[in-house]
Amino acid sequence: MLSNAALHWMPRQDDVVAGVAAVLRPGGRFVVEMGGTGNCARATAAIRSARGEVGLDPDVATSWVFPSPGEQAARLERHCYVVRLVQLVDRPTPLEPGSTTADWARMFGAALVDDVPRSARLAFDHAVDDHARELGLDRRPDGEPGWWVDYVRLRFQAVRT
Ligand SMILES: C[S@@+](CC[C@H](N)C(=O)[O-])C[C@H]1O[C@@H](n2cnc3c(N)ncnc32)[C@H](O)[C@@H]1O
Repeated sequence: MLSNAALHWMPRQDDVVAGVAAVLRPGGRFVVEMGGTGNCARATAAIRSARGEVGLDPDVATSWVFPSPGEQAARLERHCYVVRLVQLVDRPTPLEPGSTTADWARMFGAALVDDVPRSARLAFDHAVDDHARELGLDRRPDGEPGWWVDYVRLRFQAVRT
């Protein structure tokens, strides 16, 4: 079974891993890329700072789960897998031309932006992008023009025993 960019949206990680084990045959593979420890740390820091500036709780919870390699390997072993590979990979990801961190937040960060009052949205977006600039998210690491997100991906391959 292959999964990309989905598992970190699922708070009940043990249930997900156990559920996949229940449908795999012995020898079946579970191959995943998902958010790992440190994923989008700069982007979320910029958004949280902006929340504070418009009077909202900067520490509001999200349902994202970004496990460490050790944590995820232990989870897989608890649920009848042999872990063949687990790694944490920096994967700086360009945004679409013309898009900024504020646009990314609206698309992926509902828990961090949905309670921003309509009247504060413009100021909030400007604050997000100001903080993101301070954190270098307006300058792609590869030198090309445009904004980027600091994705850190957890990749694993596990085999059902
Ligand atoms: C960034 S998309 C990735 C889609 C696809 N796997 C790909 O590689 O293009 C994230 C996916 O996770 C799904 N998703 C988000 N929360 C979920 C949840 N709690 N349970 C199951 N799927 C969820 C979304 O519906 C969406 O399809």
